[in-house]
Order: sequence, then structure tokens, then C-alpha cells
Amino acid sequence: MAKSLKGSYQQLMERSKRLTVLKTAAGIIQWDMETKMPPKGVEQRSEQLSLLDLIAHREIVDPEIGALLDSIEKDRKYESLDELQKRNVHLYRKMYNEEAKLPDELVAATSKQATICVNVWKRAKAAKDFNMFRPELAKMIELREKAADIMMEVKGTKTPYDALLDAFEPGITADKISDIFGGMRKGLMGVMKKIEASGVKPDSELLTRRVKIDAQRKIGQMAMDFVKYDTTSKEAGGRLDETEHPFSTGYFDDVRITTHYHEDRWTSSLFSVLHESGHALYEQDIDQDWKWQPVGNACSYGIHESQSRFVENIVGRSPEFLEFMLPQLRKVCGPALKGVRLDRFVTAVNQVEASKIRIEADEVTYGLHIIIRFEIERDLFAGKVKVNELPQVWNEKYDKYLGVEIENDSEGVMQDTHWAGGSFGYFPSYALGNIYGGMFLRKMEKDVPEWREEVRKGNYVPVGTWLKDNVHSKGNMYDPADLVKHVTGKNVEIEPFIAYLKGKMGKIYGF
Ligand code: CO
Repeated sequence: MAKSLKGSYQQLMERSKRLTVLKTAAGIIQWDMETKMPPKGVEQRSEQLSLLDLIAHREIVDPEIGALLDSIEKDRKYESLDELQKRNVHLYRKMYNEEAKLPDELVAATSKQATICVNVWKRAKAAKDFNMFRPELAKMIELREKAADIMMEVKGTKTPYDALLDAFEPGITADKISDIFGGMRKGLMGVMKKIEASGVKPDSELLTRRVKIDAQRKIGQMAMDFVKYDTTSKEAGGRLDETEHPFSTGYFDDVRITTHYHEDRWTSSLFSVLHESGHALYEQDIDQDWKWQPVGNACSYGIHESQSRFVENIVGRSPEFLEFMLPQLRKVCGPALKGVRLDRFVTAVNQVEASKIRIEADEVTYGLHIIIRFEIERDLFAGKVKVNELPQVWNEKYDKYLGVEIENDSEGVMQDTHWAGGSFGYFPSYALGNIYGGMFLRKMEKDVPEWREEVRKGNYVPVGTWLKDNVHSKGNMYDPADLVKHVTGKNVEIEPFIAYLKGKMGKIYGF
């Protein structure tokens, strides 16, 4: 008996809810592992997580899901579904096809190898010994190549690497990224040269003055209050905890963030709280009617990163925000900000300098770190670079693009955990986040020209509302390039981001 279209769709959405409940429960257990779990709990926790992962996997690839999707897509009334319903069906179909085509053994082997590889990476990094890391990394790459070959078929991409990229940034290809990054490289290097020629030397000593952790907690609270990320009221849907590497996780009414505190780098917690709040607000602001549905998720890693960087950099490092914050910061920081004038503070937190480490990079040089990783990944999966050549290739590119000399592989090719964990194709989304952010900013400046003045007065509402209405609330209704087009009317372009950097840095560095 043929089911009605409406009935099948309803059933699919019920399965979507089951899956989302499972996945978000696993997410909270994962969060607990990072924040609260006592050390001894690690083994039983891995049992708990791997069973939940397995149940979620079976939930997705259940043949009944395939049958439901078939009956919906083949129904002669399919066209009567609205745009939202079609999008839900499309997203479910994509997930089902991708998950069903990967052999269970490959998935299990990859997740096992990721654990081994990350552990070896930690030891090899401490020992500054790439040779220790190399064999496990090679196995990891081999597994990812197998998956990429299968995904290339499923997704219909031109290359295996394009299939990996699509998992983070649906619809993007290495060719498109090469094109965008080519313009980015030229633009960033131009800004860097102007900064070097300006002769202005930011006083970075200022940021190494000690600020007590208690004071930093108060500063973090001020930052969350500013962007209206609620962790304290009776209706709060957020909370802040402490981990070595800050992150955010959660779904709609329970989205949590973490930060770290270093007494001799106090602004690090301020900016990481702003960054993670940007991620959290995105998740909380998705249209509530879409909860449990495929569209009720964020659009992509790049769009997510555009939102965190918007709050951290475009707002958080703006002279206007810093002007508003400085008097309050003085009250809690004590001697660290004594006699520090606003312009000196603004320059210090916007210092631009070529460096070796990506996560410490400023807004201008950051993109160059990403270009290096993108080019290496692309060439690795095209067979143009071999695993044993990675350190040399890495060091040459750092010299060429950033003019810095890498002295050992721990500060070079082994600095990030992504490759050890098998996350190839992830890095470009960070830089795309900056680029999308520049485009959103240009549009927001047209819609809300007074936003800087409002931030200077301590009012984030116009910015927060614009981001919610234009980006957050749209959830996963569009692929990233389509969302950008929907919001700005433009195809992805580099010019607004470079113009933003020129404008801002030009004022700070006087060019
Ligand atoms: Co982020």
C-alpha cells in the first residue's frame, strides 16, 4: 500500500527528531568528557560514546529511511512540497547516501586510527620528532583517501579532495577555493606590506601584564552580557566552563561554551569568550519552528566560523567596542591597564605580525596560514606531495608566504591536531569564515549604518539582530554560497574582507 506523501514526510521528520535527540545527547556526554569527567572515567566514556555513535549510524542508514525517501521523491505530488520541506528531504537524502555508502569497517578503522594518531601526534609534537608521527599519519591519510574515493562517487565531485571539502563546506570545490584564495593572498600581502612600511610598533608587552583569573572571569561575564549570551538568568540557555582549548557545543536551548585563563595573556580569554559566544548565539538563534528538522542546523563550518569571527574580530577588536569596554576593564584589571590610553590598547590587540603558529595569528596573516594548509592538502590528495615530504613543503611555504623560518616540526607541520584526527578539508572553512564575514559586514553597514556608534555606546542589539535575522535564523535552508548570495546578493568574493582590513588597519597603522 502506498503511503501518502504527507504521511511519509511526517514519518521522516519523526525519524529526524529521534536522530537529533541521540546526537545532541552524545554531544552533551562529549562536553562532559571535556569539562567535568574525572580522569578515571575515560574508558567507560569511550564505550558510552561509541555505542551512541553506532546507534546513530544505524538510525541513519536504516533501510526504512531509504524507503521513506524513495516514496517521497517518487511521489507524483512531490512538487506540492514547499521549499522548506524539499530542503529537509534533500538534506536527509544527502546524509543517508553518504553514510550508507561508507563501509562500517572503514568508519570503525578510521575512528580507531584517529585515536591512535592523535595520541602519537601529541608525543611526537612534544619530542619534536616528525618521524615518530609519520607512519601513523600515512595510515590515516590512506583511510581518508579510501573514504574520499567513495564519497567522490556519491557526491559526484571532480576529485577526491573536493568530496572531503564538501563535508565541511557543501558545494565548494578546490578550484573555487584556489580562485578565492589567490585574491586573498594578494590582498593580505598588500595590507601586510603597508603595515610593515608604516613603522608603527604595537606595544604588545601591555598584554602580557598579569591579570588575576578572578578578574578575567568578570571580564568574560561582561563580554557575554554585551552580546546577550545568557548564562545567568532563570531562562538561560548557555553556560561557560573551562578547558585548555575553548570550544562551543549544543543545540537550541542548551548551547555551552568554554574558555581558558592565562594570567599573563588576559585578553586571550576575553576574545575566546567573544568567539565562542558568536558560535553559541548562532545555534540559539536558528528558527525555533525548525527544531529537530535537518534545516534546524547551522549551514556550514565556514558560515559558523564567520559568525564567531564577526563577534570576536569585527566587533570585539573594533576601536568602538574597546572604547566602550576600557573604563570597565580598568576597574577589574588593576595595574595591568594603569596609564594605558585607548589608542595604545587598540593597537596592541590589533597587532599584525607574521608568525609561525596559526592559532596565535592576527586577522591579516591568518589567511596565509590557511592557504599553506589548503595547498598542501590539495596536493597530498592529488598525489603530488608524499607524506615524508610534508615538513620540507611546509617550511618552504612558510618562508615564501609569511617570511618566517620554521626551526622544528612542532612549530611547523605538527602544530595542529586536524590532520592527526583525519579532518582533511576542514582548514579552508576558517578562512572562508573571514571572507563571508567581510561580505556580511558590507551588507550590514548598508542596513545598519549606525552600528559602530551603537557599539561605542555599549549597544550590541542592532548587530545581534541583523546577524540573527539575516544569517542565524536561516539555519541550513541554503548551502553556504547560496546563503551568502541570499544575504548579500553577491557571489563569494574577497574584496569586502580586504577592504575591511585596509580600512581598519589603515586607521590603526596610519596608512
Ligand atoms: Co571557531
